[in-house]
Amino acid sequence: MTTAAIVAAAGSGERLGAGVPKALVRLGDQTLLQLSVAVMRDAGVDVVVVTAPASSVAEFTALVPGAVVVAGGETRQDSVRAGLSSLRDEVDVVLVHDAARALVPIEVVHRVLTALGDGAEAVVPVVALADTVKEVTLTGDVVRTIDRTSLRAVQTPQGFRRSVLERAHAGGMAAATDDAALVEALGVTVTTVEGSAEAMKVTTPMDLEVAAGILARRRARV
Ligand code: CTP
Ligand code: MG
Repeated sequence: MTTAAIVAAAGSGERLGAGVPKALVRLGDQTLLQLSVAVMRDAGVDVVVVTAPASSVAEFTALVPGAVVVAGGETRQDSVRAGLSSLRDEVDVVLVHDAARALVPIEVVHRVLTALGDGAEAVVPVVALADTVKEVTLTGDVVRTIDRTSLRAVQTPQGFRRSVLERAHAGGMAAATDDAALVEALGVTVTTVEGSAEAMKVTTPMDLEVAAGILARRRARV
């Protein structure tokens, strides 16, 4: 199995509002970009491809020596597609990871890789929902309470046989919020493994505070 990780890092980080692309924001002494690339490498991934904002390719390249940095696109889906088209022929398994999930525990990456090694075509890490979930009308009235026992929040890295992910991205489905949704649209089974609260996506300033807390606790432990 030759594995590649596409680290999606081409977003601007509008909601974080740091004034720089989100992947360049620091957590401790490293950027979210560097932390995300490091965990992919530590997990034994053979090739790391990073998608960067088109105007920041050189800056990103300098931060992650050894990774292939390509210009991303308008949407996350466009960026992943750009990363995918840059892969060498021998790559047969692809992880797609959000740079913004910089603290994903290595065990989660291992679980995804193990499921692929065991023959899964597509794998996503998931966590149960803590909140009660309700469906509401456009004006905000509750329609019903949804049974959350069968619901899961989905994280990254998501793992795929390369051929499946390529077919999924060629499928032309518009505006999927993750790669697995494109695979589901093909009718291919997507399996799940246990994710982790620590694989939270840094989206808002408060998320960055939470992530700093997780990192501080980890550093104190070693
Ligand atoms: N991403 C990407 N290309 C895009 C948009 C997003 O590679 N055109 C990446 C981001 O860099 C991020 C991941 O996809 O690591 C998840 O996206 P999100 O958390 O939404 O990040 P941003 O789009 O940067 O944030 P925002 O939506 O707040 O602007
Ligand atoms: Mg976004």
